[in-house]
Amino acid sequence: MVNEKATEPCVQNQLYRDVERVLISAEEIQDRVRGLGRQIDERYADKDLLLIAVLKGSVVFIADLMRAITIPHEVDFLATSSYGAYTASTGIVRILKDLNEPIAGRHALLVEDIIDSGHTLAYLTQLFRARNPASLEVVTLLDKPTRREVDIDLFWTGFSVPDEFVIGYGLDFNQKYRNLPYIGVLKSEVYQPGSE
Ligand code: IMP
Ligand code: MG
Repeated sequence: MVNEKATEPCVQNQLYRDVERVLISAEEIQDRVRGLGRQIDERYADKDLLLIAVLKGSVVFIADLMRAITIPHEVDFLATSSYGAYTASTGIVRILKDLNEPIAGRHALLVEDIIDSGHTLAYLTQLFRARNPASLEVVTLLDKPTRREVDIDLFWTGFSVPDEFVIGYGLDFNQKYRNLPYIGVLKSEVYQPGSE
């Protein structure tokens, strides 16, 4: 008998086999992103809104979020890299690509994939505040509050997640898994070989 499930990518494809479990489904993400879009519409009505996405993890989120926002706005991109281990942030942030446009006098909204220790965002908000935007706030798809090492204020969260390594919907491990349509927990043996 043909197993219908065998045609689904989850059993065919290594990408899906490395997922321990689905934490947030594609539908749940879409619902939440629409909700955030409505809040942003209200908060920034009649304001000069600039969305700033931190590459690369935030690209999937910003692509959906900007279409959930109905007020006119612009987008800009910033690329950072933190030195150190794959799954832990070191707090040392390097700007690989700065913004194209000045943000002075504009309402800047930083779009992040996940706030973990908070070091990346603490650094970026300090950097951008010095450029005198009219306002600076943060919207993050995911938050791992139990991992926080520095306080971050003025941020909106899509979902709080437990202290596990998550992938998908833009988030990577070793640059892979960004194209998973949901947020999943990565099997620990993938990043800790021999831990099975
Ligand atoms: P922070 O500086 O510790 O807050 O780290 C933030 C960055 O670390 C995020 O923007 C991600 O790129 C990465 N990161 C932290 N936790 C995870 C995770 O569970 N999965 C994938 N990337 C993560
Ligand atoms: Mg990131």
